Amino acid sequence: NKACLVVDNDFQVAPVSDRLFGSFVEHLGRCVYGGIYEPGHPEADEDGFRKDVIALVQELGTTTIRYPGGNFVSGYRWEDGIGPKESRPRRLDLAWHSTETNQFGLHEMAKWLQKAGGNELMEAINLGTRGLEEALDLLEYSNIPSGTKLSDERRANGAEQPFDIKMWCLGNEMDGPWQTGHKSAEDYGTLAASVARGMRSLDPSVELVVCGSSGHDMDTFGHWEETVLEKTYDLVDFVSCHAYYHPELQSDGSRDMASFMASGVDMDGFIKDVAAAIDATKARLKSQHDVYISFDEWNVWYQEEEPSKNPEGIGNWPVAPRLLEDVYTAADAVVFGDLMITLLRNADRVHAASLAQLVNVIAPIMTEPGGPAWRQTTFYPFALTAKLAKGGTVLEPKLSTGTFDTPQYGEVPAVNSVAVRGADGSVTVFAANRSLDTSSDFEIELPKGFAGQTIEAQTLHEDDIFACNTLEERNRVTLHPNDTVALDAATGTVRMTLPPVSWTAI
Ligand code: AHR
Repeated sequence: NKACLVVDNDFQVAPVSDRLFGSFVEHLGRCVYGGIYEPGHPEADEDGFRKDVIALVQELGTTTIRYPGGNFVSGYRWEDGIGPKESRPRRLDLAWHSTETNQFGLHEMAKWLQKAGGNELMEAINLGTRGLEEALDLLEYSNIPSGTKLSDERRANGAEQPFDIKMWCLGNEMDGPWQTGHKSAEDYGTLAASVARGMRSLDPSVELVVCGSSGHDMDTFGHWEETVLEKTYDLVDFVSCHAYYHPELQSDGSRDMASFMASGVDMDGFIKDVAAAIDATKARLKSQHDVYISFDEWNVWYQEEEPSKNPEGIGNWPVAPRLLEDVYTAADAVVFGDLMITLLRNADRVHAASLAQLVNVIAPIMTEPGGPAWRQTTFYPFALTAKLAKGGTVLEPKLSTGTFDTPQYGEVPAVNSVAVRGADGSVTVFAANRSLDTSSDFEIELPKGFAGQTIEAQTLHEDDIFACNTLEERNRVTLHPNDTVALDAATGTVRMTLPPVSWTAI
């Protein structure tokens, strides 16, 4: 295959929002307990936070953390997680059939975020079993400086200053039949509008995310967006998208790897479809207001083939069981990097995104109780993209490439790529070669003025595309310098080889 990207400084898509590099901490499995919080671990600090995990989170470069769920939030009582730890109740978590000990709550999260380098908190509220009153209580507790029952209770609990939370999710995946308190689009839209109105009158500075669809393939997709946006458009700032990808198992036991490699094609279509619903609603309502996309759950997730099953049985509600502990391959990391390219290419519409999730649960960081923490394969494309694209501006991707056929998406571009101009004048190109068997001669035409500058490329590629990082072999898959990269200074052209199933930052 031959692919060519023309980098043109004069045509830009949009500045890269810092919030594109968000992640997600849910009370699910070992994400909180045994993940970021493990009192007694040799690396735990005085608050029980694992310092080795904090160091990896800082290296990962996340900017926002969505919390505390996920499906968990739809049955959560936030008040259970505040006050003296010894008086906090143990509760049943219906979403994950677990026991929630509430030893970690809002104060612990806010403190952890500070220690992890000042990530922004994106708080989700429970619109499954609860509603407007609890949302207002939580907002008062979090954002009012002092002088009211709940703000003074926060101060008494040790947080003199308000948490000042700007981003709020109005529930989670309320379109999903699995969600506790699942609603129709009509009922959810009406509830979300009234909660948004109430929250805005308490704190006009909040930025609100209304639930979109929990998947592009949901039966209600489209109708859901149209109905919910119609009722909430001028009251919210974002509509959410959630998407998870994995190679489908075929009847002959093989996997549809070709379609999996092209997951970015589906994500791109999803974003364009939701953007169309936003635009249609804006036009219909003659609104001057803009609503953006918060892609607040995205990842590779082998959803139907979990290594661990949800606990079952009336007497079986374990604390922090091993759930959703997917071990990612090199191929997964390439798809993951391609999804990040796709988010960047749509930076004009996607102003926030959260990688689901951060530690142990479909996560870039894994830990063992009392043992080490390590980077999964997916850690690398996230960390390098965050490092190189943060603060930059996405340039219009003018890309030509060959194609290949997939059972799910038909003919797809073999290479996906995007260029980001940095605040310092540098240019970074991200590229994924989706082909399972063909390398790509990749050419980048640089803008004038770049000839003669330095060039560097890092590639994630393994001959064994199923190679993983595990407890036993923690650094099996990592980035390597791509020595094929060469700059023709006279023409300002970069040439290099992208191996099959590879992700590269140049
Ligand atoms: O991220 C795991 C789960 O996926 C979340 O709890 C839920 O929102 C989604 O279905």
